[in-house]
Amino acid sequence: MIARKSLSFIQPYVPGKPAEVLFREKGISRIIKLASNENPFGPSPKAIKAIKRRLPEINRYPEGSAFALREKLASILKVKSSQIITGSGSSEIISMAIQAFCEPGDEIVFPHPSFIIYKILAYAHGTIPVTVELNRDMSYDLDSFFEKISKKTKLVILCNPNNPTGSHIRKNQLHSFMKNIPDRIVVLSDEAYFEYAEDPEFGTCIDWLKGKNVIVTRTFSKIYGLAGLRIGYGIASQDIIRTMEKIRPPFNTTSLAQHAALAAIDDRAFVEKSLKNNKKEKRFLTEKLKKLGFNVFPSEANFLFCSSKHNAVKICRKLEEKGIIIRPMTGFGMEENFVRITIGKPSENRLLIRQLRSIMNRRSS
Ligand SMILES: Cc1ncc(COP(=O)(O)O)c(C=O)c1O
Repeated sequence: MIARKSLSFIQPYVPGKPAEVLFREKGISRIIKLASNENPFGPSPKAIKAIKRRLPEINRYPEGSAFALREKLASILKVKSSQIITGSGSSEIISMAIQAFCEPGDEIVFPHPSFIIYKILAYAHGTIPVTVELNRDMSYDLDSFFEKISKKTKLVILCNPNNPTGSHIRKNQLHSFMKNIPDRIVVLSDEAYFEYAEDPEFGTCIDWLKGKNVIVTRTFSKIYGLAGLRIGYGIASQDIIRTMEKIRPPFNTTSLAQHAALAAIDDRAFVEKSLKNNKKEKRFLTEKLKKLGFNVFPSEANFLFCSSKHNAVKICRKLEEKGIIIRPMTGFGMEENFVRITIGKPSENRLLIRQLRSIMNRRSS
């Protein structure tokens, strides 16, 4: 085999099934996708307008540094624009962080279950993934991270709110963690879902940019509805950003993505509508899923993590026959009774509950 040895540990990432695939497999055209934590309302209408306006310019290379977008984000976040880097999705920023700060053989500590990309990227860059189990109720115990931090640890990744569990880290937890984290370690806080967090005590690492080696990653793929355009950003000290800029591919974010992101930031109405729906429908789905016998874990994100007495993989398959896609958690290294459901529009959530009820009733009869 000519491939690098570390690649033998990688199982290729399995995304939530795209609607096109279900159409090809089963010929179902009316599909409800609640499997990839996307915004159910589509992209921000202002972003669509911006893209149409900028289409005639796509013969030109984009401004790789995303100057205007970084300026805008900097003014909102009250940091310097030289503290921001943009990426083809926040996943690219995570990849660049590993590449920039970890030598092959270094250890990267992150929670389990969590976003599966961390493990893939760790192996892809020749580093060693080390996982810390969440508590049984899927909450974070940050003290237990110190049991796994060794001399070889270079990077610690916190996923907050955590995908797939929806659990979050509070300010006071973060405070004691950051105070004790050694200076030689880089802490990357993946905050792809932070906009959805309702807890006023939600702890963002933006508060820890000074004095510690911290990188915060955020994205336009979720609340702003731009997942297909691939644009995210990282926030850190100027030193850290300067280092990461050395390895950023020259034209890694497209001009359309940059302009769409700029417009989406200004579309407050769209963001408010998305947040309001998420808050209301999270409560609706939680209550109905519990009535159907699911154990639903508290979530600060746009998805719900559930366990069932039954085999959730089979339930997912039955739902797919009805054109509804949710996410079994086997791809996250979990048992077959766990499932993750993205919070959709009211009509989508009601249809999901109706179909689930009929599947569960058939199971118990
Ligand atoms: C926790 C987490 N981080 C990052 C991402 C990647 O987002 P992006 O589209 O910005 O690469 C996701 C996507 O699902 C995610 O769940």
